[in-house]
Amino acid sequence: MRLGLAGTVLLSAAAYYVYLPLPSGVSEPWKLMLLDALFRSFMQASDVAHALGVCHRIHLLNHVVSLVEEIEAHSCPAVHVTDTTLAGVPTRVFQPKGGKQLKRGVIYFHGGGWALCSGRMRSYDLLCRKMAEDLDSVVMSVDYRLAPDAVFPAQYHDALAASRAFLSAEVLDRYSIDPERVCVSGDSAGGNLAAAVAQELSSDDSLTVNFKLQALIYPVLQALDFYTPSYQQNRDVPILYRPIMARYWLQYLGADTSLEPVLLANNHSSLDQLALSSSIRSKVDWTALLPAKRRKHFRPVVRETGSPRVMGEIPQLIDVRAAPLLAEQGVLGRTPKAYVMTCEFDVLRDDGLMYVRRLQDAGVTVTSDHYEDGFHGCMVFAYLPMMSKVGWRSMNNYIHWLDQNL
Ligand SMILES: *[C@@H]1O[C@H](CO)[C@@H](O)[C@H](O)[C@H]1NC(C)=O
Repeated sequence: MRLGLAGTVLLSAAAYYVYLPLPSGVSEPWKLMLLDALFRSFMQASDVAHALGVCHRIHLLNHVVSLVEEIEAHSCPAVHVTDTTLAGVPTRVFQPKGGKQLKRGVIYFHGGGWALCSGRMRSYDLLCRKMAEDLDSVVMSVDYRLAPDAVFPAQYHDALAASRAFLSAEVLDRYSIDPERVCVSGDSAGGNLAAAVAQELSSDDSLTVNFKLQALIYPVLQALDFYTPSYQQNRDVPILYRPIMARYWLQYLGADTSLEPVLLANNHSSLDQLALSSSIRSKVDWTALLPAKRRKHFRPVVRETGSPRVMGEIPQLIDVRAAPLLAEQGVLGRTPKAYVMTCEFDVLRDDGLMYVRRLQDAGVTVTSDHYEDGFHGCMVFAYLPMMSKVGWRSMNNYIHWLDQNL
């Protein structure tokens, strides 16, 4: 009797912890709730450890992730897998065993807010393995340095140095990669790095080999407006809550994370910020860049007065290497043919959709692949235990696009 009561109480408590009202239309809401409960419990545990001074919350999270998720490089019948370095940056390489003599090539940057995760994780390993096999392509998954130990521009520099090495005659030759068929890609914070690298390298005339394609999966592209319609609509949608994204930005830029409320108030992009010219503002102006269908009923939040010193303290906020959406049209126009994946239930949806529009305005051919039932991160949850349907569908469409275009 007492046991039954205790059981009921425990179950109710668990259900209460897991249950979260989700917007209708999101793919498999119960799976997302469970995933969110798992993430939330890790985050809360790491916050406690952080507050107690045991260790930095990010170190604890990464430790758990590596214990649970990281796997050794092991080959399978179709793909040869090894750990190596590109320009000194640790990289896992996936080489198809059969197929053509000359392979296609993809360099991939994993997500995780520039602070978490690794290309050695099971989910990324499986994704890259599948790409290598399905595309008959050499895939290089780069483990750039992470915050808080390394901050901007370290992540960017690692991604850039690895990409330059990837495009070098020596590496292309060693791995039998066709120099005419190479792509840069990444998801979330990795999509940010891929976009930034594509901009830098496509404007570099000294290179003899350049990327044919850029494929960006729900990329992070700007930190000036935390009130885009997608930030407003999805503020409470797991797994990337609005305040978490603001914190990741501050951490990446090496700024004080106590400035989180300033960013969340859009006080850093108020009209009294002299560093923000109208030209910069126009590049993130979603009232002009988004179609009415996505703007919905949302209103822009622009403060007359804010926290004017912030832009001086964190000038990286308007550095195009950190925020690729701020690039000039001329720079965008030189970047390769693009694929941009966006999800309806993602605070970063409009970062991606605005980039699609800006690339198109600059004359770049873009495939905008939008998932009406997608949530942030869905593509890496395609496999067990989540087996997300939208994750599986989006992953296959992404690989299909590469197959058709690379
Ligand atoms: C934002 O700026 C306004 C005006 O300067 C100020 O009153 C408010 O406290 C600021 N909010 C945050 C969170 O910094």
